[in-house]
Amino acid sequence: MLKFKYIVTSALPYVNNVPHLGTIVGCVLPADVYSRYLKLKGEECVYVCGTDEYGTPIAVQAEKEGISPKELCDKYYEIHKKVYEGFNIKFDVFSRTSSPEHTELTQYFYNKLKKKGHIYKKKVKQLYCPNCKRFLPDRYVIGTCPYCGYEKARGDQCESCGKVLEPSQLLDARCNICSNKPVLKETEHSFFRLSAFQRQLKEWIDKNKHWPANARSFALSWIREGLIDRSITRDLEWGVPCPDDPSKVIYVWFDAPIGYITFSKQIGKEDWWKDKKNRIVHFIGKDNIPFHAIIFPAMNMGVGEYILPYQIASAEYLNYEGGKFSKSEGRGVFGDDALKLFPADYWRYVLMSMYPENRDVDFTWEEFQRKVNTELNDAFGNFVYRVISFVLRFHGRELEKPEQFSEKDRQIVNKVKESCAKINKLYESIKLKEALQEIIALARLGNQYLNAEEPWKNKDRAQSVMFISLNIVKTIAILIEPFLPETSAKIKKALNIEDIAWHKAAELLEFGKVEAIEPLFRKVDDKEVIEYRQRFRSKVEGVRILDTVSYDDFKKMKLKVAEIVSVEDVAGADKLYKLSIDIGGEKRTLVAGLKGDYDKEELLGKKIIVLTNLEAKKIRGIESQGMLLAAEKGDKVSLLTVDRNIDNGADVL
Ligand code: MF3
Ligand code: ZN
Repeated sequence: MLKFKYIVTSALPYVNNVPHLGTIVGCVLPADVYSRYLKLKGEECVYVCGTDEYGTPIAVQAEKEGISPKELCDKYYEIHKKVYEGFNIKFDVFSRTSSPEHTELTQYFYNKLKKKGHIYKKKVKQLYCPNCKRFLPDRYVIGTCPYCGYEKARGDQCESCGKVLEPSQLLDARCNICSNKPVLKETEHSFFRLSAFQRQLKEWIDKNKHWPANARSFALSWIREGLIDRSITRDLEWGVPCPDDPSKVIYVWFDAPIGYITFSKQIGKEDWWKDKKNRIVHFIGKDNIPFHAIIFPAMNMGVGEYILPYQIASAEYLNYEGGKFSKSEGRGVFGDDALKLFPADYWRYVLMSMYPENRDVDFTWEEFQRKVNTELNDAFGNFVYRVISFVLRFHGRELEKPEQFSEKDRQIVNKVKESCAKINKLYESIKLKEALQEIIALARLGNQYLNAEEPWKNKDRAQSVMFISLNIVKTIAILIEPFLPETSAKIKKALNIEDIAWHKAAELLEFGKVEAIEPLFRKVDDKEVIEYRQRFRSKVEGVRILDTVSYDDFKKMKLKVAEIVSVEDVAGADKLYKLSIDIGGEKRTLVAGLKGDYDKEELLGKKIIVLTNLEAKKIRGIESQGMLLAAEKGDKVSLLTVDRNIDNGADVL
């Protein structure tokens, strides 16, 4: 048989945010499980990943955080790296698209495609913000999706329906920085002749019947609609410089997937991309399908040096308690917050058993608790602990192979063999969630066998029952390693089989000395569930959707119109003002964090809205007798006021 090598990749995460559970289960974790499996099985495999640092996702966020794109990337690169380490993700390389090798390879792709006639220049009209005085590529624009009507679609892609967009297609477009309406202005861009690859792509995708349904159908329907040439340069400063136009950079979705090759090259594996036998396996989220199934393959068809992907494992989304994860709203579990609550293996287990293979899946704390308690603890942990403790108690540290097996024993041994074969097949076909379920089923089978045979009562059966049970523990320890590497190592250590080979999973082995083991997992109680749900719910939506407010509750708030009659500094505080206000004849003092946002003169005489029945609070020694209302987004603040003249003290309803 021809021996081939595997290059497993996970979509390169944008470094504009802290990764959350959805990012981790979407591609980084399943790719880790799959590549660990391949390596354990003895395949030649590398797991390639790194950060996607260019383009408007980074530039826009940097602008919003008030730092340079480079600073933003440096900061988040470290955060991402640390979080993945915490989750025990074993990359062979975790590099960055901002590395010089990447610029070089991207420019090589560009030049080669151009030389072969696949890139041309064209004058186009593009959205331009007269207020910010610049062109608005991709995520610099938001507006309504022309396909599904989603109102916050971004200029590059609609998050709701997944369609890839051009900024000018958006209805009611707005500048993402200043919210102004952009105008059209002429500029010249390089275009990649995607349309020329229509037929070749279709033939290739038609053949890839082993792709998941979502990847295949999305790709085929895109082709059916007719592929159009795509502009691959942008009027930006942050990105790979365009080789033949210094005023532009290359579009991030042109350079990013080339990153897979750059990073492979950085670890001396570029030639793996040049051998047709080898297999590229991409793990991605569904919004990345067009780029991995169509655009990047077309680029490679054009360049003609690197192989096309064998498999595109595309996940649907993991949602959080009925909504989206949102860092800005503080909704969901992010980065190492998760690891502060539970060790990596708990998360690896729960996330992989929720892997959103065919449809979106909702992460809930109840489901987390159910999985940890009934699957990790009752089925798996309990079986392992019972068997090892029993062997130590009744058989000393060594357990010999019995002379004879009963019919029941032979049956169970066969079942374990069948199950091993099945699990291997599931791994092989990247049905990872099912593989995990099957491993847990094996632990359940072991528990049933123990309960039926009762070795603690039937002394003459004890040796063979325990010998087989211990072998099932070994089988599970081997097969579960890609998912739960730490737990697997603990069990293997107890059985003194640290270096056991993958293919020994189904064999009946005699063990040397067995060591005691601590319980593997702990249970999650109801109080914790309530606490976590509260802690990680949205600060924004949490109030609006999860905790609805009754009209009676609302009526308790006494809101009134007040006039600011004096403004003073607060000694030693650089954000605070002491305000005197007049609420229809009643004078009060407020301490408000408006310094820096408003000048004193601007505030004097302004009519504002004040919550008057809030309990008084001392701030810097001054009693603040109420709270003024203001709108806030990012670092922008705006006071709520009345839009007609109305007397101080008027009720706000
Ligand atoms: N950064 C992209 C995202 O988060 C994924 C890039 S994958 C690659 O959606 F192919 F470009 F590398
Ligand atoms: Zn603008």
